[in-house]
Amino acid sequence: MKQLLVILGVLGISASFIILLSVKQVTRQQDSDVEDFAHLPKSDSPPALFNSPDFSFKSQHGEVVSKASLTGQPYVANFIFTTCRTVCPLLTSKMVRLQRELPGVPVRFLSFSVDPEHDTVEALAAYAKQWNPDEQRWWLLETTTPGLAEVAKGFHITAERTDGGLDAVMHSAVFVLVDQYGVVRGVYDSERSEDFKALARNVRTLVGSPAPAPAPTARSGEVLFHELSCANCHEHPELAPPLGGLLGSRRELETRLLVTADEAYVKESILAPVAKRVAGYPLMMPSYDGHLTAEELNNLVKYIAALPHPVQMADVPIAIDPVCHMKVRVTEDALHVQLDGGAPKYFCSAWCKARFAENPDAYTR
Ligand code: HEC
Repeated sequence: MKQLLVILGVLGISASFIILLSVKQVTRQQDSDVEDFAHLPKSDSPPALFNSPDFSFKSQHGEVVSKASLTGQPYVANFIFTTCRTVCPLLTSKMVRLQRELPGVPVRFLSFSVDPEHDTVEALAAYAKQWNPDEQRWWLLETTTPGLAEVAKGFHITAERTDGGLDAVMHSAVFVLVDQYGVVRGVYDSERSEDFKALARNVRTLVGSPAPAPAPTARSGEVLFHELSCANCHEHPELAPPLGGLLGSRRELETRLLVTADEAYVKESILAPVAKRVAGYPLMMPSYDGHLTAEELNNLVKYIAALPHPVQMADVPIAIDPVCHMKVRVTEDALHVQLDGGAPKYFCSAWCKARFAENPDAYTR
């Protein structure tokens, strides 16, 4: 469950434990679970799994997209919302990477919003523009509450509002492949890189598009930095650490270790980001293992080394969330509570802040 369901906003052990319980309750109401499908072995001729649900929603361009209008065209779908700060940037970076790995392939990409309250056509258009403005095959869909419930049920996914947390909605982190007849042919756990590679292959099989020859020349660091969406996260300090001035600097990791960011550290960050996580960021970074040649990796590291020094993020103080004990960056927009006469308390999420507000004594003693 943990891998597939997004425990939004909460990395603190106590908080995620409680949310995990609620996730179980939500999914137990469904007859089958998306996880059963995601864990099926991936073959190069994907089997028919189940019929996709009916839907009819407006895209970011204002046109109506429905199951019927998609007949004849395969599509890859995922589930996101635009104000999500925890997992959606990760999912969207993978969606964009898939789009760029399938240039010219006649397939559609659908991102269903799981936040019908806030994700309007305009918000979705701005989001698409930020992440992949040139992609004509990508439709971000404005949903309605009942429509989303039907889609969630039909795809066997979870999309539930939380009563707090860094993010407002908890939802499944899978990608779904639907063929030209509206039949689901695969459910892919985006956290497993082998699954994700199978998804690109399965799309090519469905549309009969041969795998491309490897690119003859290595891409430059600058091209890679933008093509691989590095800038989409790293130019937003609330999502990811700025990379200017990184080489040679000291970094504090989640494990409280202090390390010097040398070339090997930067390479490891790109290929195996979970190995050394920088303290204070709930969002996970995608792994680029298998997506870069050795020369491209070197180009990327050189590009990062030459980036100008923006804000001294290393100088931002770190506080401990009194509820979940996670580290929190004390920036201007950090969630906090000012107690009478005491030092402010900082929180990783609105969920922890609310727990604290209910009973401050329990956490300040
Ligand atoms: C979905 C958002 C996202 C994308 C896309 C992303 N990163 Fe990251 N990256 C993060 C986050 C969050 C961290 C901090 C947590 C961690 O260490 O995993 C991070 C950490 C790093 C670090 C370590 C930084 C430090 O301060 O020590 C490096 C280096 C890095 N990323 C490089 C890259 C490169 C290069 C790319 C593109 C090829 C990239 N990232 C794409 C989110 C992202």
